[in-house]
Amino acid sequence: MSGVNGVTKHAGSAPLLTLRNVSRRFVTGRDFLGRVQQSVCAVDNVSIDVEPGTTLGIVGESGSGKSTLGRLALRMIESDAGEIDFSGEDLRRLSPKDLRQLRPQMTMIFQDPYSALNPRWTVGRSIAEPLRINGSSTREETHSAVVDMLARVGLDADAMHRRPAAFSGGQRQRIVIARALITRPRLVFCDEPVSALDVSTRAQVIGLLEDLQRDLGLTYLFVSHDLGIVESVSDRIAVMYLGSVVEIGNAETVAREFRHPYTASLVSAVPAPDPRAQRVRRRIVLSGDPPSPVDPPSGCTFHPRCPLAEPICAREKPPLLIDAAGHGVACHVTQGSTDLIGANLLARMTDAREPGISTTLPVRVPAPDSAPASASMP
Ligand SMILES: Nc1ncnc2c1ncn2[C@@H]1O[C@H](COP(=O)(O)OP(=O)(O)O)[C@@H](O)[C@H]1O
Ligand code: SF4
Ligand SMILES: [Mg+2]
Repeated sequence: MSGVNGVTKHAGSAPLLTLRNVSRRFVTGRDFLGRVQQSVCAVDNVSIDVEPGTTLGIVGESGSGKSTLGRLALRMIESDAGEIDFSGEDLRRLSPKDLRQLRPQMTMIFQDPYSALNPRWTVGRSIAEPLRINGSSTREETHSAVVDMLARVGLDADAMHRRPAAFSGGQRQRIVIARALITRPRLVFCDEPVSALDVSTRAQVIGLLEDLQRDLGLTYLFVSHDLGIVESVSDRIAVMYLGSVVEIGNAETVAREFRHPYTASLVSAVPAPDPRAQRVRRRIVLSGDPPSPVDPPSGCTFHPRCPLAEPICAREKPPLLIDAAGHGVACHVTQGSTDLIGANLLARMTDAREPGISTTLPVRVPAPDSAPASASMP
């Protein structure tokens, strides 16, 4: 192992974004004297590096802390602890004035293209708004920047004179993307950018984001609850569970040679591209709902739902240990194991939940007309 808690020690270019031991707790209840009665640890001691021009995918169930992590990374909200370094600047220590100057370099693409745009404003005004706030462009510069951005996102220049209601969901998301990129940012936080779109539009918008990344040298933090989408766009993936990163590594490694039981359950929920592979794949059904973040389980917070849990799991929180290739996992049972990886881990989990089923793939071929296995994943 060459690193602990998300800090990798493999060669590569200097990261554009570095988070070290970042945490954020939200107060969710106070008594009549204003004293804190209840709080939620949304992000717990997270460390990640994002190299320039790459995509870090962040995946996990709803409430796992993905959006909070992205907002902390852009200092849209304040962290309680840790360090956040953007392009050599310690974001937590920047004065409000210096932060304002850095702002255009970091932007966000929102999930819902319907609520993200002011319905009363023309598209041109919405796209130009970040430049107006920035105050550094003339009228002519702003106009030509809007025309250029509209072309880059695949819309005609005359779109700028119309209002959002004239556009479909996919087109509105293109407008949202144009607005996010008008200041020519370096880092873009994409928070579930295709979740509100229908399946055919999703592929087009993802293709557009990939083209823009290549053309403009963008770095993405890409959040989704869908591992299939995250795998298709990411260079590296961080898997979050109840505020912590439980697995991190190259996208292909996390999606195929996963070592964390929670990642395995996410993988099993992704339809296999090959229908023959789909027939032999079993979906891991996690027992119970995600635990309350107000009162998280002891030790490994996944233990009440984990088919492989052992007594130590309820007592001690496993550290995230990273190997020389940058693959990290936080699990007492699979860390260091040579066989609890990928398909074998899935098979072992199926066996643990349903004794008697083979522990080697293919685990079982369901009848073509059998009901799909359900799961409590989103
Ligand atoms: N502003 C807030 N006030 C109180 N709790 C919050 C706030 N924002 C997020 N949370 C809580 O923090 C946890 C993580 O939320 P979030 O980052 O939105 O998760 P995700 O994006 O993975 O769905 C959740 O339990 C959520 O309820
Ligand atoms: S540490 Fe234990 S409970 Fe947590 S994922 Fe690993 S086996 Fe499961
Ligand atoms: Mg979210």
